[in-house]
Amino acid sequence: MTAVTCTVAPQQPPPPSLSRTALRDVLGRYASGLTVVTGLDDEGPVGFTCQSFHSVSLEPPLVSITVQRTSASYPRIRRTGSFTVNVLSGAQQAIADQFGRSGVDRWAGIRWLPTAADNPSLEGSLAWIDCEIVAEHEAGDHVIVVGRITGISPVAADDHDPLVYYRSRYRRLTAD
Ligand SMILES: Cc1cc2nc3c(=O)[nH]c(=O)nc-3n(C[C@H](O)[C@H](O)[C@H](O)COP(=O)(O)O)c2cc1C
Repeated sequence: MTAVTCTVAPQQPPPPSLSRTALRDVLGRYASGLTVVTGLDDEGPVGFTCQSFHSVSLEPPLVSITVQRTSASYPRIRRTGSFTVNVLSGAQQAIADQFGRSGVDRWAGIRWLPTAADNPSLEGSLAWIDCEIVAEHEAGDHVIVVGRITGISPVAADDHDPLVYYRSRYRRLTAD
């Protein structure tokens, strides 16, 4: 894995227009899908809800996830060298909640099967994407993790809707 350090200008106190509340309000106006990033180590399955998943490159096939520096799950995943992105369907709001909560058994009641990389594929997801971790970029209070895709598969039928996240709320797509 290549570790790249991001060069960001020294920290200045942000102006009031860039308060956390203002940033949340404006950045939250960008709608996204939702994923659960999973891995498997000696202790068992590990995973967390992740909004910041992006398609990066087709050749080579790369994606990125952005992980809180305080994450307890990511160091476990990192040690295995691989992770799997589960793309959530509209029927999986409870799963997004469960994997975004701390202090609970995130795997209670969860049905999953191993992917090609042996990581958990959550039943009912739209697709899974297996990745090998190839780079990490420090970015403020987060780390941008770049994964090279090693395997993919649709899971649910094509007519299932995605789970959408917009302005801190779960949404469903509606037909035109
Ligand atoms: C809707 C939603 C989106 C989230 N998106 C991210 C994300 O993009 N990156 C991230 O590190 N954590 C994200 N989280 C928080 C994690 O799911 C999790 O709560 C956090 O990583 C702490 O758990 P951990 O210590 O087991 O990693 C999100 C949570 C929710 C509910």
